[in-house]
Amino acid sequence: MLKINEHYLKLQASYLFSDIAKRVAAFQEAHPEMDVIKLGIGDVTKALPAACVNAFHSAVDEMATDSSFRGYGPEQGYLFLREAIAAHDFQARGAEISADEIFVSDGAKCDTGNIQELFSVDARIAIPDPVYPVYLDTNVMAGRTGAFADGRYKGLVYLDSTKENRYVPELPQEPVDLIYLCFPNNPTGSTATKEQLKSWVDYAKEHKALILFDAAYEAFIRDDALPHSIYEIEGAREVAIEFRSFSKNAGFTGTRCAYTVVPKECMAYDSRGGEQPVHPLWNRRHCTKFNGVSYPVQRAAEAVYSAEGQAQVRDLVGYYLKNADRIASAIGKLGYSFAGADNSPYIWIWGDRDSWEFFDMLLNKAGVVCTPGAGFGKCGQGYIRLSAFNSHENVERAMVRIKKALS
Ligand code: MLT
Repeated sequence: MLKINEHYLKLQASYLFSDIAKRVAAFQEAHPEMDVIKLGIGDVTKALPAACVNAFHSAVDEMATDSSFRGYGPEQGYLFLREAIAAHDFQARGAEISADEIFVSDGAKCDTGNIQELFSVDARIAIPDPVYPVYLDTNVMAGRTGAFADGRYKGLVYLDSTKENRYVPELPQEPVDLIYLCFPNNPTGSTATKEQLKSWVDYAKEHKALILFDAAYEAFIRDDALPHSIYEIEGAREVAIEFRSFSKNAGFTGTRCAYTVVPKECMAYDSRGGEQPVHPLWNRRHCTKFNGVSYPVQRAAEAVYSAEGQAQVRDLVGYYLKNADRIASAIGKLGYSFAGADNSPYIWIWGDRDSWEFFDMLLNKAGVVCTPGAGFGKCGQGYIRLSAFNSHENVERAMVRIKKALS
């Protein structure tokens, strides 16, 4: 008799965004006349930058001729892309990351979900609350938690992100081994200063812990004082893995390309306390379970780093930031307090009522989809998240409708 992995039975219903999509589909079926505006999942709406499209086309043409055709590529990604990433995203900011520490993949969601399998099942995990559900659910699936009770899984250390700490959690009171951080934060839109990240790096060094730093939204940082990468912090190479994505800066949510940085100094420990570098472990996993991102997609991603690509990406991100600003100003005028919007595509709004009740009200009365904060964790209860990923026109219409619904 084949038994299942019973840890899956501990998971809460369906994945948050599938759950929302189902509710929206049911609403649309019941109200076919309603033109629903989606400010829920952070999915981009604007076309790929022209530089990426041109590179994509030429690479497809190369695949059409025997002499330039390419079959399997290196699992870790082509050197042309890894070198461009290392030079532009890290070395240009004074962070010493080399091309062979970069692993190109098809998504930061997959990488942040898969990385935990390198570590022991009894690793003590610190997870922010609210949090991108992937970090949490993949640890539940792996058996690192007990049952779900009162909004939380037993056996995890939750890092509360609240209005009081401006949505940047305090260091844990107890020792932990693996720490998930995300800045600019999803879902709260908060950012962390160099000093704040330094305190996490120091903690990780002291406790022989590792930080999993999700920087998928770094392109939205406009404040020059804020770090874009954890490797801008001294000592981070020894204790941090960073995840990046082309989804939110260059509109690759449907095209799929991301990368993970595993510096060679990053260590975990075997059962005898011996140091084990993480880089070869991730390399082994990547080569065994992944066959690389397609050549045309990697060429399209490389074009992000060309002079035109850089200007186009900045414009694209600027477009969504303008939406964020518009949403923040409308919500502020309605008297609601919020975080995010500066340096982030997310606006985290205190709704002063149950999150799902607020979600239903906005959907029914305004035809606007948000994400209920409670879906991101216990500390998200009472909040909703609005995403700036839509057209200016739709954001404008959504704000008019929300104003009417809430007045
Ligand atoms: C979100 O809305 O939180 C993100 O779009 C989810 C993701 O990037 O997978």
